[in-house]
Amino acid sequence: MIYHKNLNQPPATGQKRSRNDAGNKATVVLGAQWGDEGKGKVVDLLATEADLVCRCQGGNNAGHTVVVDGKEYDFHLLPSGIINTKSTSLIGNGVVIHLPGLFEEGDKNEKKGTCLKGWEKRLIVSDRAHLVFDFHQVVDGLQETERQAQEGKTIGTTKKGIGPAYSSKASRTGLRVCDLLADFKDFSTRFKNLVHQYQSMYQSLTVDVDDQLKKLKEYAERLRPMVRDGVYYMYEALHGPPKKILVEGANAALLDIDFGTYPFVTSSNCTVGGACTGLGIPPLNIGDVFGVSKAYTTRVGIGAFPTEQLNAVGELLQTRGHEVGVTTGRKRRCGWLDLVIVRYAHMINGFTAIALTKLDILDVLDEIKVGVAYKLNGKRIPHFPANMDVLQKVEVEYETFPGWKTDTSAARKWNDLPAKAQNYIRFIENHIGVPSMFDTKSQTSMLYLFVFLRRVVVYTSWNHISKAPVISDIATS
Ligand code: IMP
Ligand code: MG
Repeated sequence: MIYHKNLNQPPATGQKRSRNDAGNKATVVLGAQWGDEGKGKVVDLLATEADLVCRCQGGNNAGHTVVVDGKEYDFHLLPSGIINTKSTSLIGNGVVIHLPGLFEEGDKNEKKGTCLKGWEKRLIVSDRAHLVFDFHQVVDGLQETERQAQEGKTIGTTKKGIGPAYSSKASRTGLRVCDLLADFKDFSTRFKNLVHQYQSMYQSLTVDVDDQLKKLKEYAERLRPMVRDGVYYMYEALHGPPKKILVEGANAALLDIDFGTYPFVTSSNCTVGGACTGLGIPPLNIGDVFGVSKAYTTRVGIGAFPTEQLNAVGELLQTRGHEVGVTTGRKRRCGWLDLVIVRYAHMINGFTAIALTKLDILDVLDEIKVGVAYKLNGKRIPHFPANMDVLQKVEVEYETFPGWKTDTSAARKWNDLPAKAQNYIRFIENHIGVPSMFDTKSQTSMLYLFVFLRRVVVYTSWNHISKAPVISDIATS
């Protein structure tokens, strides 16, 4: 078999590179549950050192709050690295962009404090990213109403137009940033066609096309200085001088369109593949993949949730954890940590470390449960069920731990934690790190496990992290 001489390097720039020069590696931060695990917080910590912070998928359906010098900044579409004036932020081709939302978010945050000053100069937008239009958001709402009427239930979307925009992309009628910046007459024709397509599906949809196009033309000029060929930009970032590149996943593994709890998912790939396809990063240039998980489980919106606690425990987690959605203001559903799903997320993403967040929310509990396996008809099942009706029916097998009943919110190091909390964390590591689905006889899985076990990062509550940005890198071996 004949191999291409320079397997790692496309000869894009005509520059000769050493065969061993694989380039810089991107660190990827991903949600390991149903979202809101505190990814933003982990990203913010890593972003203080990053040169380039990227979003690869999703849109302004994501959301998190960052507190700097007592000022609260809300992010939905902007990479949270935008807060760091020394780094560049990139919105990749896999993201869907609602331009009014993007500028409103930037302008609103800019007024709050000094962190966002000059944000437009630090933001790069891929020319291949698809646009979310106002009518996509209206359609999102109409589809939810339709679901309620037809099936008696909704998906509980954020109504940010994410599903309809990705639908336009997949049906090849969508419009991208590069289309908006090219011939506006062509863009206007395609925009009108797209509106007609949706109006033929939704008779009640009214769109003031002229007004929309007028606004889009204005946004186009504001956006133009930020737009680059995303693929070339990323290639240069990977193969230029050493750079710390960070990819900020939005949403989470169980909301992934392929691997999540379909149909109660979002419309993009929130697992590690999304970092490659959403930014044009070759798999070889993916470095650390950090999975973020809360010390318990939450979910917004509808869908199966095996460890959900519709009782005092759930209420305690909700109030102590301030579990309210940043984007929608909805109360989050709460339950025990479900290691079946975190392990499932690990199977797909191959985490090199897990960041465990909000451990201190559990401080007051007498006993703490962890879901370790699912049973169907009394029998353990080894996989995570694809079908939601099956997932609704599973019985969770729990492991019970005594609570540590100690305030851990100020803990920064492993040794600051009470032994019972250490036990809880060790159990989590072992359970995810020694999964039965791995062939324990194979060398690679042993090696893998070793790497995984050595890098567990524990965070306590969000506020404490903002005050003291310390990552405790704990060697557990
Ligand atoms: P969409 O992404 O707005 O279409 O919403 C689809 C589903 O994903 C809904 O159940 C949302 O609540 C959920 N979802 C989307 N983004 C997030 C997020 O960032 N955190 C938590 N849930 C999310
Ligand atoms: Mg969030």
